[in-house]
Amino acid sequence: MNNFIFENKTKVYFGKGCVGEYLPKIAAVHGDKVLFAYGGGSIKKNGVYEEVIAALEKAGKTIIEFPGIMENPTYKKVLEGTKLVKEKQVDWILAVGGGSVMDCSKAISMAAVSEKDVWDEYWAKKGVVDFEPMPLGVIVTASGTGSECNGGAVITNEEVMIKTDRDYPKCNPEFALMDPTYTYTVPTKQMVAGSFDILSHVMETYFSEPDEDNVSDDISEALMRGVITSLRAALVNPEDYTARSNLMWLSTMAENRIIKLGKKCDFECHQMEHQISAYTNCSHGCGLAVLHPVYYRHICQAGAKKFTRFAENVWKIPRNGRTDEEMAEAGVEALADFIREIGLPTTLREVGVEKKEDLKEIADSCYLVDGSYKKMTHEEILEIFLECF
Ligand code: NZQ
Ligand code: ZN
Repeated sequence: MNNFIFENKTKVYFGKGCVGEYLPKIAAVHGDKVLFAYGGGSIKKNGVYEEVIAALEKAGKTIIEFPGIMENPTYKKVLEGTKLVKEKQVDWILAVGGGSVMDCSKAISMAAVSEKDVWDEYWAKKGVVDFEPMPLGVIVTASGTGSECNGGAVITNEEVMIKTDRDYPKCNPEFALMDPTYTYTVPTKQMVAGSFDILSHVMETYFSEPDEDNVSDDISEALMRGVITSLRAALVNPEDYTARSNLMWLSTMAENRIIKLGKKCDFECHQMEHQISAYTNCSHGCGLAVLHPVYYRHICQAGAKKFTRFAENVWKIPRNGRTDEEMAEAGVEALADFIREIGLPTTLREVGVEKKEDLKEIADSCYLVDGSYKKMTHEEILEIFLECF
């Protein structure tokens, strides 16, 4: 394994009823004024809004609502929230939603106390967060991103058409309340997209060096099998508590830094998806589903031994005399079959790319990462995009 330092400051309260039981106590030890940040209104239809308000009122808090955080949150929305925090002299932030609400709230927690333009200083480039952001807690309503237990925040700057992810440990929420029953109302399409996002996070970690025996790869295989099994069960019965709780914790486990320890990680597919999303505003998990099989067909021979292990240990494909190269391909095809089985899109047209001619500009805007079995060039990314079109 490569050397590492591990830290994760988020305290997790997991399980049915955790919000009503713990939020009043947690709120009691925080300041008077809380910014209650949420999305487009799903929490007003499923009872979560009332439960959160009741818990905050029980603790005697002054609630300042910040609704309307959109999917793929924009820097403009971050600035709007920051203005409200400053005007109302908010003490702490409670984000209630999926990755978009949590990410936007993390950026607000930084902008609330920083004198700098946070896009320029912390998203356009990797900055140094040498201050304490405003305290932030989260209540997760959709599984997928794992934002609840990391410092990651993905923000879209519409003016420059760039969607950038940064992970600052100081932005880890102080606490995360995770009630799996809150995810029962997530629309099927979003549940499937979020689950694929989990799978992608694990794969992007697993398919990178080192490849000798290591804890991370063993855990990753269990997580990938878990996503496949739990998603299939949740598709049959959306109110399957076991499946929903597994998906929720799988989501956290994939992105709480644990499986990344000692690994290089290859998040190139995420970089490609973020730029597709910056241009089309597509759902993150849907964009990933289109790109992954094609990207892996490009790189699997460079990491044939690992893709063989993936085929054998995740998809249970028997050897039957096949070479590593053939097994590697079979593993990627099993992934492609699964994507079709769960009904995710398979072309960029389906996620909103209208013209082939647009793909060059998008490909050129993608960030090239180190850590892949085969480092991409912008020309190869364009090739992949064209194959996906
Ligand atoms: O906005 P509302 O009305 O709440 O509806 C949301 C939204 O329309 C809905 N939803 C959420 N919980 C629900 C629900 N609907 C009914 N019942 C519920 N309980 O789901 C829709 C999607 O929500 P969103 O938060 O956008 O989805 P997700 O959690 O997939 O987050 C996606 C964002 O996170 C970023 C993505 O790029 C994207 O911007 N990511 C963040 C990461 C991180 N911070 O570590 C890592 C990821 O790789 C990812 O890039
Ligand atoms: Zn993701």
